[in-house]
Amino acid sequence: MGEKTIYQQLKEEGLSRRDFMKFCGLLSGMMGLEFVAPAKALGALARPDPARMVAEALESKPRLPLIWLELQDCAGCTEAISRSPSPSLVNLVLNKISVDYQETLMAAAGFQAEQAKLDTMKKYHGKYVLVVEGSPTIGENGVYCTIGGRSNLDLLKEAAEGAAAIIATGNCASFGGIPKAQPNPTGARGVWEVITDRPIVNIPGCPAIPEVTTGTIAHFLVMGQLPKTDSLHRPLTFYGHTIHDHCLRRPFYEAGKFAEGFRSEGAREGHCLYKLGCKGPTTYNACSSLKWEQGLSFPVQSGHPCLGCSEPHFWDGGGLYQGQSAPLDRPSLAAIGTAAGVGAALGIAMAGANSLKKRNAGKTTPPPDKGSSE
Ligand code: SF4
Ligand code: F3S
Repeated sequence: MGEKTIYQQLKEEGLSRRDFMKFCGLLSGMMGLEFVAPAKALGALARPDPARMVAEALESKPRLPLIWLELQDCAGCTEAISRSPSPSLVNLVLNKISVDYQETLMAAAGFQAEQAKLDTMKKYHGKYVLVVEGSPTIGENGVYCTIGGRSNLDLLKEAAEGAAAIIATGNCASFGGIPKAQPNPTGARGVWEVITDRPIVNIPGCPAIPEVTTGTIAHFLVMGQLPKTDSLHRPLTFYGHTIHDHCLRRPFYEAGKFAEGFRSEGAREGHCLYKLGCKGPTTYNACSSLKWEQGLSFPVQSGHPCLGCSEPHFWDGGGLYQGQSAPLDRPSLAAIGTAAGVGAALGIAMAGANSLKKRNAGKTTPPPDKGSSE
């Protein structure tokens, strides 16, 4: 008898047909619209339902074996995924239909865990997906990061050799991240600078958005290939726009209204954070559209400028919180009108947040003040 399909496995786990279809809908949503594009050629009437397409794939394919390596990292991407507010979905994708080895989350440890990894690499040679979190270190032949007595370079090359595809999650695995900041004593690199002969996709962010990592895994699971990417190997579905493109403070930017300090009147009114060092106009990520915590918020919405954490060299490049002079674009009357509307909406949201802050006074640490006020 052949290997069980993903649907058969989920059914045995107790998933009802109704929940399965709901799960397929969520998966298709996470994968974005890119994968239904080829279907458009069939015409509007023949266009299939994305959830149905996902269901058909899961009903016919065996589970996707997945090995998750952690190299030089803080485990922040693992933390973000394990604390995602959609644990059932992430749990289903990662535990029930994918992960064979993840040293932080798996129950096994030590030799038992390493044996599980070796077994998976042997049994599914050429078929498994390798997720890498953390930067490989090339200094002194990888001696600055060793696991079980072996250098991270050895472990990465060994696991990459039999991988069908590699997903580098987080800025460290994608571009070297904070460990690569000057003077980079360990020789941190992005995975794609070390492994050059395997299909690879980068999911940068500090940490990566859990749904973007899971959505990319889901894409490979259903489509059998990695999604289309930009020149930095980031999936276009999630990295096709800048933070600035969908930022809710954008009308203020267009109207030339900028917060001058973190405790300024402009900051309280939700004005644009460009002068406080926001890198949103040059940062490609899904934060302002997908947001975090199931669409609840993202750094800029919460009052913090985008630090550009999904871009290469974000820690060194341009300086964090460094004020920038106001952009030269002249505001349009329409933009000023929209800014007033957004200001009212943000004002209501921030008034709610302020009253909550008052209730919690003394329990939280205020953000750093840049000094000036408007
Ligand atoms: Fe753009 Fe940042 Fe201003 Fe938002 S806060 S509009 S991302 S510059
Ligand atoms: Fe990072 Fe900017 Fe999003 S700092 S988390 S890319 S808003």
